Amino acid sequence: MAYLFEFANITKKLNNDNKMLKISGQVDEGQILILKGPSGSGKSTLLKVLARLIRADAGTVVFKGNEWSSVDPIEWRKNVLYVSQKPVLFNGTVKDNFVLPFSFSSYKLNKARFNLQLAQKYLSDVNLSTEFLEQDAKKISGGEGARVALIRALLINPSILMLDEPNAYLDKESREKVNNLLLKWLQGNTGKAIIMITHNDEDFKLSTNINYLTIQGS
Ligand SMILES: Nc1ncnc2c1ncn2[C@@H]1O[C@H](COP(=O)(O)OP(=O)(O)OP(=O)(O)O)[C@@H](O)[C@H]1O
Ligand SMILES: [Mg+2]
Repeated sequence: MAYLFEFANITKKLNNDNKMLKISGQVDEGQILILKGPSGSGKSTLLKVLARLIRADAGTVVFKGNEWSSVDPIEWRKNVLYVSQKPVLFNGTVKDNFVLPFSFSSYKLNKARFNLQLAQKYLSDVNLSTEFLEQDAKKISGGEGARVALIRALLINPSILMLDEPNAYLDKESREKVNNLLLKWLQGNTGKAIIMITHNDEDFKLSTNINYLTIQGS
């Protein structure tokens, strides 16, 4: 049977030292694929290519049996969602940041709605209080911002959640909470997979369904 999400011969010339990214991989429902590789090897670039935020020079991605060239990019990004290494938050409160994606016409067409109860639950799952919703998003810490960006992505509820070092700003306790939330999300829903860049993969040692893909630094 075909994989839920599969990429083949993704090729991208990188800006540094004429390096070339060339990689294939796949992830199936319920699995986490962890990307490894030295700094500058192209891990973030690969995730951005897979989310169709930047173009590859060559290669194919197939999601649920559909090749990327046959799917509208906006539709693609709803299902294959990239959460950046540096949290991107908009002006306004934390709640405004959660609600904003649901005002986009693509979500309106799907009749997807912001779920306040779920947002509150996710916040408490990662040690943030309900009052945190009213905080100015520009004034929260790096670690808080990373969790807000992650929760916003979970509320959008994509099929393929791509996380770029979601734990980088977090202490061990918050990291465990975030990891538990991710595992719960993955196991509590059908048709989901996670592709993640992390240097803290020992956190996931006890979980099953983890695969690794290493990008060579050349
Ligand atoms: N859109 C792009 N097109 C071509 N090259 C890019 C693009 N964006 C970044 N690069 C280059 O690709 C190289 C790899 O960057 P990338 O951010 O993917 O590395 P990384 O493996 O995520 O590193 P780190 O672990 O430090 O985050 C960098 O030298 C960068 O200059
Ligand atoms: Mg990176």
